[in-house]
Amino acid sequence: MGIAIRNTGKALPKLIVKNDDIARFVDTNDEWIVSRTGIKERNISTEESALDLATAAARVALEGVDYNSIDLVIVATVTPDKIVPSMGALVKRKLGLPNAVAYDINTACSGFIYGMWMAEALMRNGRDVQNGGTRTNIINRALVIGVERLSRIVDWTDRSTCIIFGDGAGCALLEYDEHKTGIISSFVKNYDDVTDSLTCGMEYLKTPFTNEETDNPEKQALSMNGNQVFKFAVNAIGEVMETALAYAGLTPEDITYYVPHQANLRIITAAAKKFKQPMEKFQVTIGETGNVSAASVPMALYDTMQSGEIKKGDKIMLMGFGGGLSAGAVIFEV
Ligand code: UT7
Repeated sequence: MGIAIRNTGKALPKLIVKNDDIARFVDTNDEWIVSRTGIKERNISTEESALDLATAAARVALEGVDYNSIDLVIVATVTPDKIVPSMGALVKRKLGLPNAVAYDINTACSGFIYGMWMAEALMRNGRDVQNGGTRTNIINRALVIGVERLSRIVDWTDRSTCIIFGDGAGCALLEYDEHKTGIISSFVKNYDDVTDSLTCGMEYLKTPFTNEETDNPEKQALSMNGNQVFKFAVNAIGEVMETALAYAGLTPEDITYYVPHQANLRIITAAAKKFKQPMEKFQVTIGETGNVSAASVPMALYDTMQSGEIKKGDKIMLMGFGGGLSAGAVIFEV
């Protein structure tokens, strides 16, 4: 039996911000940003909420599908519109998905990969009661969404981070289909971020029981030691690719197309080199989107599926890495 990717979707905010636009208010320039990251522009939400972006991406993926048939919604994000209700609950309500179980996960830029890993496991669950399986919700169709408005947690005076991130949403519709192979292997892994190389604090309200002197509220803004995260990313992407390939019994050559997290063009190039694969096999969208954390892989996957290059039977690998620290990869057959 297969857990197949039936369709994908993507949504972007209207405003496009070019490197030169950012160079107007921080000390940077287009040449530095392009050569160090590959980024030329990114979309920034002005009026679009995360919910607007998530539901717009989901609607694309759901075209022609009965909304009553959606059993599960997992939203991966570090920038939900609210803490309560979850983005999953908000998406379910706004789209009208009466039968869906819905919730959020946060594994930063690996969020979509963890969402896929979790959705696949849940979709396989409960189907084999006769052989000792669990009696539980049977999930036939699941939406896995990655959505971010990173522009709202970026310190726009910090040139080392504000040039990197963008906003957007991507989505995959997973479907139980006994005639398809679908997901072949998946692997996720957490690594302790002992040096706090990638963090974003939370500014809580004060209580009557604390005082200004002893209270130490954390600034709610992304902070990143770029060099450390870069080194982690290059190692982690290699490890998860290797493991997902080993689980699947495949070689790098067997993969038709690679869809990596879009954090830095140099990280993607390093992965291609390590696995001796041509860059043409890697989806590269970072130039136009920047790093959109959990939304980055599903947005890039949408572009891959729309490219006209992908045919039935092709094998695609999705790879993510990021805060936590966390990383993962999923291989599926189209
Ligand atoms: O998605 C989650 C995972 N995230 C990642 O994977 C990000 C990984 N890290 C990176 O992509 C890169 O480390 C960055 C793009 C963040 C930074 O590139 P880098 O080549 O590591 O630059 P650096 O931090 O070593 O800085 C080099 C120089 C420094 O100047 P000095 O000390 O050499 O004089 C920085 O002050 O570049 C300077 N710099 C800038 N210059 C112009 C830093 N940011 C900028 C900037 N414009 N925006």
